[in-house]
Amino acid sequence: MNFEDLNKEALPQHIAIIMDGNGRWAQQRGKLRVRGHEAGAEAVRKTVEAAANLGIKHLTLYAFSTENWSRPKTEISTLMALLVRSLRRELERMASNNIKLSAIGSLDKLPKNVQQELHEVVQKTAANTGTHLTLALSYGAREEIKQAVVQISKKVKNNIIPVESIDETIINEHLYTQNLPDVDLLIRTSGEVRISNFLLWQIAYAELYFTDELWPEFNEQSLHQAILSYQKRERRFGKTSEQLT
Ligand code: IPE
Ligand code: IPE
Ligand code: MG
Repeated sequence: MNFEDLNKEALPQHIAIIMDGNGRWAQQRGKLRVRGHEAGAEAVRKTVEAAANLGIKHLTLYAFSTENWSRPKTEISTLMALLVRSLRRELERMASNNIKLSAIGSLDKLPKNVQQELHEVVQKTAANTGTHLTLALSYGAREEIKQAVVQISKKVKNNIIPVESIDETIINEHLYTQNLPDVDLLIRTSGEVRISNFLLWQIAYAELYFTDELWPEFNEQSLHQAILSYQKRERRFGKTSEQLT
């Protein structure tokens, strides 16, 4: 399969990926889980580059969930160290590929050096106009919705907005993803068929794509395959098929 198979006029505007299977990839090779995460970082690099080459506007990657804080301390610290290393290493490439980086999640729970590194890369890529890459870190959709409810409630209580003004737009504006359009295509690797607390509000009408590939195996061709599947579907948004033509 090649590039030509894709309809460049009908690309998903926003692709989100649950990058799963690093541990199993390592286990299958008799390696430590951390080796799987390192190989996963390489898959991130390739996937971001592939998305940028295609001209995908928004790519959101689930890198660490609020639930992942329950993993063994050593795995968490190697993941955090890997994150800092990757950010440092990829900064130049992001700059030359015109990629703009953002991060969403309970970022204040991340180690200070991770927060600093993130802040620096976000600042340095802020003016870039190519693919907008968002890393979901210490991210949980329920936490995201909860904090939106708290913020909106405070505004109502302090008479900043009337309760009648609360609509879907207001809710969107209080989510971490306030500057992002809804997800068009959600991909999950590793054969698990679940959402694991990712972007619950934003995937309301996303097309879901599950692949058995483990995250370190994911590459440009895998991305094309997922987009091809997306392009074969009819997105009806509640209407009948006849209404769409
Ligand atoms: C995904 O791979 C990476 C993170 C969740 C940080 P896993 O580490 O979950 O890999 P498996 O699911 O154990 O194979
Ligand atoms: C989901 O993967 C979170 C990320 C990919 C960051 P997990 O491996 O943590 O998900 P579960 O626990 O199997 O659902
Ligand atoms: Mg997993």
